[in-house]
Amino acid sequence: MPQATRKDTQRIRQFRKVCEILDSYDRDSSKLIPILQQVQHEYRYLPEEVLTFIATSLGLPPARVYGVATFYAHFALEPKGKHIIRLCDGTACHVKKSIPILEALRERLALSEGKSTTPDMLFTVETVSCLGACGLAPVVVLDDEVHGQMTPDAAVALLNDIISKEGKE
Ligand code: FES
Repeated sequence: MPQATRKDTQRIRQFRKVCEILDSYDRDSSKLIPILQQVQHEYRYLPEEVLTFIATSLGLPPARVYGVATFYAHFALEPKGKHIIRLCDGTACHVKKSIPILEALRERLALSEGKSTTPDMLFTVETVSCLGACGLAPVVVLDDEVHGQMTPDAAVALLNDIISKEGKE
């Protein structure tokens, strides 16, 4: 199949799924946030053209939809990796040495402050503010699973486990 045609097919598929999500909310503009949550769940981020499509479908100004998507930290406008590692850097976790954990994770994955996702789109590492589990500090959330009292070695071991499950090494 020629490249352009394959891209077109992908695009149609992409919007078909968005249409299904919009329909499941009766294209009700007051349901914008749950719609965005579900679209992000599907794609792992909110592509710009999808945001525009959602705005048009709901009869909302695109600026309003972008405003909501950028206001909530939960929404991502850039593609993220298959596995998302969130390191808490709230006060309790910071005091209990969250930064060495972050450094160890970044070193293991060759990431940096300006580069949070691996080129193979397998991992994204990001910091978040207090996760409400300060008693477990320092906390790492890996694919929505909470791991408390982490150390740099334990966090890297979690990573290594996934890397070997993914058959990457
Ligand atoms: S500061 Fe990390 S969970 Fe509260």
